[in-house]
Amino acid sequence: MKQKLIEAAKKVAENAYVPYSGFHVGAALLTESGKIFTGCNVENSSYGLTNCAERTAIFKAVSEGETKFTELVVFSKTDELFYPCGACRQVISEFSSDLKVSIISLKDTLETTIAELLPHGFKL
Ligand code: THU
Repeated sequence: MKQKLIEAAKKVAENAYVPYSGFHVGAALLTESGKIFTGCNVENSSYGLTNCAERTAIFKAVSEGETKFTELVVFSKTDELFYPCGACRQVISEFSSDLKVSIISLKDTLETTIAELLPHGFKL
């Protein structure tokens, strides 16, 4: 399943709409029910409106009625590894406090969890 998620994240990164940064990101999210939701980053000429790949995947899943996730793969099409931004960490933690997160680049992989990425996240 991990390999399937990695392939899905790499594939969706090709759809990244990144005319400003040229930085392709793809995310693949596995639900408890076994479905995969993918997302890419979508930029905007009003830069602050950009949506990250992770949040695109989560919003797609939630809008399809899925809120229970078991694994997330985030791929940056770069040699270097890039961690998810703070906003995405907070959004991920809304749904899963113990989600497995794999961060991958063209050269490396790092396995972590949302608990490690966002200790003491905001929760109501
Ligand atoms: N980006 C993501 O897609 N995910 C992150 O966690 C951090 C940043 C995107 C947003 C923007 O399109 C580009 O990377 C550069 O910031």
